[in-house]
Amino acid sequence: MKNERKVLRNKSILIGVTGGVAAYKAVDLIRRLREEGSSVTVIMTEAAKNFITPLSLEVASQNRVYSDLFSDPLAHIMLPANADIMVIAPATANIIGKFARGIADNLLSTSLLSFRGKLIIAPAMNWRMYENPIFQENLRYLLSRGVIQVGPEKGALACGEEGMGRMSGVSEIVESIKSSITKKDLVKEKVIVTAGPTREYFDPVRFISNRSSGRMGYAIASAALRRGAQVTLISGHSSLNPTKGVNFIPVETAADMLDAVNKELNLSTVLIMSAAVSDFMPAEKHKNKIEKSGELLLRLNKTPDILSEIGKKKNRPFIIGFAAETGGRIERAEKKLKEKNMDMIIFNDVTEAGSGFDVDTNRVVIIDKEKKIELPLLSKNSVADAILERLVEIRA
Ligand SMILES: Cc1cc2nc3c(=O)[nH]c(=O)nc-3n(C[C@H](O)[C@H](O)[C@H](O)COP(=O)(O)O)c2cc1C
Repeated sequence: MKNERKVLRNKSILIGVTGGVAAYKAVDLIRRLREEGSSVTVIMTEAAKNFITPLSLEVASQNRVYSDLFSDPLAHIMLPANADIMVIAPATANIIGKFARGIADNLLSTSLLSFRGKLIIAPAMNWRMYENPIFQENLRYLLSRGVIQVGPEKGALACGEEGMGRMSGVSEIVESIKSSITKKDLVKEKVIVTAGPTREYFDPVRFISNRSSGRMGYAIASAALRRGAQVTLISGHSSLNPTKGVNFIPVETAADMLDAVNKELNLSTVLIMSAAVSDFMPAEKHKNKIEKSGELLLRLNKTPDILSEIGKKKNRPFIIGFAAETGGRIERAEKKLKEKNMDMIIFNDVTEAGSGFDVDTNRVVIIDKEKKIELPLLSKNSVADAILERLVEIRA
């Protein structure tokens, strides 16, 4: 899509694949990076060839795969010099140890020494190796030199044991690469993002709710974290996983959400309300499941209006709200901005194709007290970045 804000577009990424069981995951990583618009070149070690073929990596990267130091005499200088970012995934205890001690005995270790840019490593190994103090010392040394570590995770390991050492998921590695090259223009901000629908119960198993996947809010939380903000995500039910590093608070009802927002409000500088909070809740909640017999009449009360409540507070944060309207009624969003004492409102017409629920795209208008920015149809990730760019501009 035109105007997409893809952080990794046109970046040149040099991937080092080393000899661990997780080497097969490099294929998926390469594919994802190419989808993000990056070009990928691979250096694999001899040991890695025991776990994955050079051909698989060649096909995934649509590029030559390098591994011998002497058959391409300039590769250890030219490949790193032409790369914006270097990623070692998986990174064995061996390559981490060698790099920490400045050993340059193959194409990958030599390239690591000649590289000058951002380096991300995704360690993967058996937990006994990972916890070894010699390995830990090597790792600490690299981190102290500015190397970025992603993972590993705790879980079932290839050897059949459980423990710390499983390579991070591909999404997390991609997120870490994006974060490494994102300007940290929100470091001073403590941001609360609300997302997803609330559920208002009328008996223990039944509720009324709103349509919402939570995608917009989760995208905003990730984008704010990448820009250096401290992020709390307060979310109603969603099938999405919050990005690691986000303070995640799951909630169910509008009252729970208001409660959680109030608790987190202290010291927060920005509140972004993208949740689809139910406007109504059943007037009474039955203790037991209601018998299925004849018709059921539900009386509904208004739920607490979180935005208005926070908007009235004296030391309130910068407030961004969302107005999901049907039928292009932008004036309603403008009215809401004033009435609820918000600083910015994001208008979208949920009846428009590609906008709104259960899709990855949205077409929005960013409205604040000074201007209106009409955006084309964009991915929700790009919409999130556009909103945060405007936030940075206003708060500069
Ligand atoms: C079946 C098998 C699995 C292995 N898995 C890993 C691993 O996950 N992580 C690791 O650090 N080493 C692992 N090793 C050991 C490395 O392959 C070995 O240290 C090798 O020298 C690494 O070389 P490289 O760093 O040049 O790729 C494994 C070895 C075998 C035989």
